[in-house]
Amino acid sequence: MEIRGARVLVAGATGDIGSALAERLAGVGAVTALAGRDPARLAGVRERCGPGPSRIFDAWDLDGAEGTAAWAARELGGLDAVVVCVGVAAFGPVGEIGEAVAEHVMAVNALAPMAILRSASAHVSPGGLLAAVTGTVARSAPAGMADYAAAKAALATWLTATRRELRRAGVGVLEVCLPHVESGFAGRAVTGTAPPLPPGITVAEAVDVIVEGMRMDARVVDSARSKRGTT
Ligand SMILES: NC(=O)c1ccc[n+]([C@@H]2O[C@H](COP(=O)([O-])OP(=O)(O)OC[C@H]3O[C@@H](n4cnc5c(N)ncnc54)[C@H](OP(=O)(O)O)[C@@H]3O)[C@@H](O)[C@H]2O)c1
Repeated sequence: MEIRGARVLVAGATGDIGSALAERLAGVGAVTALAGRDPARLAGVRERCGPGPSRIFDAWDLDGAEGTAAWAARELGGLDAVVVCVGVAAFGPVGEIGEAVAEHVMAVNALAPMAILRSASAHVSPGGLLAAVTGTVARSAPAGMADYAAAKAALATWLTATRRELRRAGVGVLEVCLPHVESGFAGRAVTGTAPPLPPGITVAEAVDVIVEGMRMDARVVDSARSKRGTT
């Protein structure tokens, strides 16, 4: 897709990757609507991206999450792309996670992104794009983060099925499957401490992967594949 002039909703625009993505998109001429949970961080990103709409939402409120795409379409006079960068990790043995944390992790990493994109499917124009960030854990399913990995796998499967459904409507669906990224994400886990992780890619490299995927109308991108071309 052509990013210059595109009307793009970034959900999770307050995070390390979401904020850097929003700024990159604005820098190359996209018109952005920004959604995030933390009001102060959201205001800061909005300022750095230039004038435009912003909206607070919490992933726990699935109706609010679902309403985000309609809001963005209204504010921008249409919607060409949505990128969901919302997520939270949880670390620890399955027997110690507990149902409240498990529900939280599923809501933030799977149900809320699905709610946003489900409603966006009715608003994004033909030629447009729905995208969400998953993670290599969705494939590798490492020990010590079962609920986080399962939530990302659920989102990945949902994206694949939705892509098949929306093909005829001319709307692309992109899965951004990131490896470990050197953001503050692991340190913000809802519970537990991250196991030793391999060196990650930088936030700027993660943004490169996302923007390349958008430009190439890719179906799935990850940092390893993006060095060889998107898939
Ligand atoms: N960093 C990594 O190693 C890595 C690897 C693979 C995939 N990912 C994925 O990349 C995405 C971005 O991660 P990041 O590295 O940028 O981490 P981050 O800085 O912690 O960003 C997480 C984002 O999720 C939002 N969020 C968390 N809980 C929320 C809730 N209950 N309601 C609404 N928003 C909520 C945060 O909002 P607030 O800031 O407003 O609280 C923030 O915008 C996530 O989906 C993550 O799973 C990260």
